[in-house]
Amino acid sequence: MANVTVIGGQWGDEGKGKIVDWLASRAQVVVRFQGGHNAGHTLVVGEQTYKLSLLPSGIVRGTLSVIGNGVVLDPWALRTEVEKLSGQGVSISPETLQIADTCPLILPFHRDLDALREDASGQGKIGTTRRGIGPAYEDKVGRRAIRVCDLAHLGELGPQLDRLCAHHDALRAGFGEPPIDRERLQRELGEIADFVLQFARPVWITLNAARSRGDRILFEGAQGVLLDVDHGTYPFVTSSNTIAGTAAGGTGLGPNAVGFVLGIVKAYTTRVGAGPFPTELDDEVGQRLGERGHEFGTVTGRKRRCGWFDAVLVRQSCAVAGVTGIALTKIDVLDGLEEIRICTGYRLRGQMLDHLPAHAADQAAVEPVYEVMKGWQESSAGARSWAQLPAQAIKYIRRIEELIHCPVALVSTSPEREDTILVRDPFAN
Ligand code: IMP
Repeated sequence: MANVTVIGGQWGDEGKGKIVDWLASRAQVVVRFQGGHNAGHTLVVGEQTYKLSLLPSGIVRGTLSVIGNGVVLDPWALRTEVEKLSGQGVSISPETLQIADTCPLILPFHRDLDALREDASGQGKIGTTRRGIGPAYEDKVGRRAIRVCDLAHLGELGPQLDRLCAHHDALRAGFGEPPIDRERLQRELGEIADFVLQFARPVWITLNAARSRGDRILFEGAQGVLLDVDHGTYPFVTSSNTIAGTAAGGTGLGPNAVGFVLGIVKAYTTRVGAGPFPTELDDEVGQRLGERGHEFGTVTGRKRRCGWFDAVLVRQSCAVAGVTGIALTKIDVLDGLEEIRICTGYRLRGQMLDHLPAHAADQAAVEPVYEVMKGWQESSAGARSWAQLPAQAIKYIRRIEELIHCPVALVSTSPEREDTILVRDPFAN
């Protein structure tokens, strides 16, 4: 049975929540494999809107939901989200939620460090979500992390805490902050341990068993390829690999489990936080896209920067992430524009480029080269077939396919789950 891996094809916020929800209703398992509660997935089911940051989207419909080892887990954020969703009538139990016992924890001092660094960075600010994501990943690869399985051995944490505190206390001293209050940390971990441990499992066993049974597994990526720590607009990126390959390493399944790679791509471009954005619009068109597209961050409420579709970036994302087909979202936000621009290349100091250069200064200096298309005045909102789309909108979609060298598998025309045009079923491949 085919699996599907959903990833963001731009800088996150492409509308993954709706597509994942739609696919989750046909999967037996939904798995998060990277990131943490920096993600923001909005799901609209009937009259209810659910906002998820850490939990896999399958949880809302009672599908087995797994948080893989590639995720960094804030135990307190987990409890808050579980309580919030339970208050909305979602049933969450160890039958529906499993968390890898190898997940590194985000601890309160990771959050402090994230904020301290951002505040001290002036112009160099990354604009992180201040959730402690970066510092927690640093401790993971620095081999200092406290992991979910450690919560069952709190009495033996001493030497691990020595290493962790020695590292962080030095950093904190540099910021004029007091050392970590170890007693308080141990007490807080003791208070939250049982809550987290009820969900803790060697999830690689669950997932491999699901695979052997032929269950459909949906891997739910967070953020987007342009925020990938290797392939993104470094250093203005998140601290994990957001490409599809992480679905294997971040869960305990091999690379052949990844299946159909569905890249979610918005019909224009947005970005939250700092960093280069070649097609950014500082005019009334950008303003209009932000308003019509409700472009405010799910997690931080920050206004998103908006701009034209950048085919150079999406072509690069599709290539480096191995995207099989894209889901094009929010096409209806472009309704009513006289003309629409697509970036087809860059000019850098007189030279033409067909890709984003690696260096941050070059990324900031590239000028977009645009192709101009006629817009459409009819509404595309709620279209469920090609026939219901304005002819000019179809031309726009077809041109995007050509430019990014990747076919469209789905088109999304409103936040409603049913307002989707299915071109190629990702699960059927
Ligand atoms: P961090 O992931 O909190 O370290 O933030 C690093 C960068 O990734 C910042 O530019 C954030 O705005 C961005 N970012 C992190 N998570 C998301 C997301 O889910 N959507 C969009 N941008 C995100």
